[in-house]
Amino acid sequence: MTALLQQLLQEDPAETLWIADENSKALLAGDFRFAGDLLTNRWDIAQLARHRTREIFFSDFDLAAAKKTYRRVLFPVSKEKAVAHHVINRAADILAPQGQLLLCGQKSSGIKTYAGKVAQYFGCAKALRKSGQEYLSINALPDTGAGGTRLDDSDYAQLRPLETLDGLYSKPGLFGWNKVDTGSALLAHQFGDHLPESGARVVDLGCGYGYLGSQLAALGDFHFIATDNNAAALAACARNFAEREIRGEVTPSDAGDRLESNSADLAICNPPFHQGFQVEGDLTDRFLENVARVLKSGGRALFVVNEFIPLGRKARAYFATVDLIARDRGFCVYRLAGPS
Ligand SMILES: C[S@@+](CC[C@H](N)C(=O)[O-])C[C@H]1O[C@@H](n2cnc3c(N)ncnc32)[C@H](O)[C@@H]1O
Repeated sequence: MTALLQQLLQEDPAETLWIADENSKALLAGDFRFAGDLLTNRWDIAQLARHRTREIFFSDFDLAAAKKTYRRVLFPVSKEKAVAHHVINRAADILAPQGQLLLCGQKSSGIKTYAGKVAQYFGCAKALRKSGQEYLSINALPDTGAGGTRLDDSDYAQLRPLETLDGLYSKPGLFGWNKVDTGSALLAHQFGDHLPESGARVVDLGCGYGYLGSQLAALGDFHFIATDNNAAALAACARNFAEREIRGEVTPSDAGDRLESNSADLAICNPPFHQGFQVEGDLTDRFLENVARVLKSGGRALFVVNEFIPLGRKARAYFATVDLIARDRGFCVYRLAGPS
């Protein structure tokens, strides 16, 4: 993806809005600079883009956040259909007449299908060409705007309460958005035996829609610092904390890097195990390292991981005590304490 994307970003950058999801991270991890604006749903990408792009918008693909129109919107297509349809719909709202929506991606990204859908929605001819291993689709918005029906984006922008989540709010665009993760449920099941003191400060690292924090909050009076890399997760978690009157803050970070040192009594975490690009380094290690830094002396952490993640071994680099406290259905829960 990088070669074509890089080339497209160099053409007329001042008129371009780059929609950057995780597909774009590899390009920003190098020394690439872009003279246009960038919109991303990921905090780590927003940080990488600092000082290398003109303006950065960190939002859950809310294209209206830019508050202006563009002659070009460039979208390396997302595999997730609801996201792709949402971005295509909203691009039509912020493109100037005759402005172009450029889609690029490999065959497996679904770009051929998306190119057909944009053509129907805009009311223009389907445009798709191959460039090396990648495809490019350039679609001009008619002077009269998009003439067709908006694509079905599963109401992407809306948070909704879900029965499957015991009424918690969630939405497409975040991890396992409409179900409780088996590992997280196993971790929450251990909370009763490992409760911190009343009033304790608890970090929910990689909070998603806030399942772990909400479960723990039901068992006592704690102050939460919930953090995630994903804008949709932060919005959902903030909504759930407000709805359930859970005390605390919801704040973006990359693996907890912005959290205050020596500030928490307990950390709860189900870390992501998708590693993405190599440049991300080992996310599990970064989660562990930051948790060790953020915990007060005497603080502890509860982690759940898929059993094939060697968390017990990795954690020994940061913690003196590493106990496996539960194991079920392919998941392991560890209790970590004390500096290594
Ligand atoms: C396995 S999910 C757990 C979500 C939630 N805690 C739960 O139990 O349902 C991992 C979470 O980590 C978040 N995440 C991924 N990379 C991250 C990063 N670099 N920094 C912070 N959070 C990240 C994901 O967005 C996702 O919400």
